[in-house]
Amino acid sequence: MSLASNSSPLISSETAKQHASRDSCWIIVHGSVYDVTDFLDEHPGGSQIILKYAGQDATEAYEPIHPPDAITTNLPKNKHLGPVDPDTIVAIAKEVTEEEKRRQALLAARPPLDEIINLHDFEVESELPCPSAKGWAYYSSASDDEITIRENRLAFQRVWFRPRVLRNVAKVDWSTTILGQKSSLPVYISATALGKLGHPDGELNLTRAAGKHGVIQMIATLASCSFDEIVDAGVPGQPFFVQLYVNRDREITKRYVQHAEKRGVKGLFITVDAPQLGRREKDMRLKLIGEESGAKVQEGQKDVPKDQGVARAISAFIDPSLCWDDIPWFLSITKIPIILKGISTAEDALLAYDSGVHGIVLSNHGGRQLDTARSGLEILIEVTDALKKRGATRQFDIFVDGGVRRASDVLKALALGAKAVGVGRAFLYAYCAYGQPGVEKAIQIFRDELEMNMRLLGVTTLDELRPEMVDARALNVHTGSIAEDNLFRGTYQPLSLAKFRDAKL
Ligand SMILES: Cc1cc2nc3c(=O)[nH]c(=O)nc-3n(C[C@H](O)[C@H](O)[C@H](O)COP(=O)(O)O)c2cc1C
Repeated sequence: MSLASNSSPLISSETAKQHASRDSCWIIVHGSVYDVTDFLDEHPGGSQIILKYAGQDATEAYEPIHPPDAITTNLPKNKHLGPVDPDTIVAIAKEVTEEEKRRQALLAARPPLDEIINLHDFEVESELPCPSAKGWAYYSSASDDEITIRENRLAFQRVWFRPRVLRNVAKVDWSTTILGQKSSLPVYISATALGKLGHPDGELNLTRAAGKHGVIQMIATLASCSFDEIVDAGVPGQPFFVQLYVNRDREITKRYVQHAEKRGVKGLFITVDAPQLGRREKDMRLKLIGEESGAKVQEGQKDVPKDQGVARAISAFIDPSLCWDDIPWFLSITKIPIILKGISTAEDALLAYDSGVHGIVLSNHGGRQLDTARSGLEILIEVTDALKKRGATRQFDIFVDGGVRRASDVLKALALGAKAVGVGRAFLYAYCAYGQPGVEKAIQIFRDELEMNMRLLGVTTLDELRPEMVDARALNVHTGSIAEDNLFRGTYQPLSLAKFRDAKL
């Protein structure tokens, strides 16, 4: 969608082509021409990648890794030159790239969806059809040694069930309400950025499946599809949450939040664990390999060193000065319930409670931020204890995310006091591999597993879950042997050692 004024004269593509240098650089995105000369050195992804498309249509390269309004928001209005004259565009016969050919071949070789029987299976499959190696590296990566991403799974295995028997479990109901909204599952789809790196329809795969099956989607600030595009794709009355990365320019944040409120969003999840994005080495190393092969996408950039990967390149706007003093301002600009996403200690949970927000997500960002931070599940016990000791009485919801791949994980978190859990990668991988039907299948898997696990645990509704139904004594013990999660181990790709080009023995 072009934001260029309708009254602007049409610009021929011939004219645009004449501005193809560092001294005068125009690009075409979504049918509009922009003068990006002064922006070249500020571009978080570096100037080279823009110069590659100087004077030409850059939409295809721009789309997967930018929210659609990134250019219109970041570029001053006087640099929005106007719409390109469609009659002057000469269709270029596109060569099907080797990467696209590989993707199509891999898609064709996927097993039928009915052979997918658990959420790990999507992870095996999604590596392959992910359109670019860069996409897979961005999605699967976690920070530093990737200890926390693995711990997120292992923590669930340190909690054991204490099932009750001889209860009438003929009818089982796993529906709930989350922030006052009906949800067919005690699971919401957590925000994951840049959906088009994994599938041409990006986040819309989640929206359509969520609308069909009564599940709530959290829209990421850095989604590949625009916020409005996602909300417009919902069925009437479909509830959404929105995730917020707070911009250094608070006016931009205010506009975003108030627009979300106008569009009926039901929960504002402010991400508080990312004053700087983590070092995700799979992502970073891939960028270096890209440079070797001539794709010097970050060359020429002033502030972001050239090896920082997709994640850092897109997040330079996030305000690291965000602090507790800002919370009253957020509460003053919106009536949407505010949830702080990324709380890791009882101390901060109490500060959040005292600040007046409506809830928290105990989360380490899917292991992508501070490595060796504890799992959300482990933090849950100290947080519920601290709130109980404080005599907390007002409505204050606690959510958990990170590593959830089974309904049994969900039930453990709920038994220990979570209202619902967030799931990121499992849904992301489901649509990388199979699009919307993949997400629907993932929801179905949760349903099937919930039904069985609730029966075996002896509960008919989620309200009947109690802390006594689990043995969590080992949860905060980080030593000793534990049962291996073979499926997770099989899909997890360990970091590989660097191959230094000139290394000699
Ligand atoms: C590829 C990817 C992108 C993510 N993008 C964001 C984001 O933009 N904002 C955010 O608050 N969390 C983001 N997250 C974190 C998720 O919201 C969630 O906390 C995490 O994925 C939960 O762990 P799981 O992937 O094991 O389910 C992202 C996670 C992944 C895997």
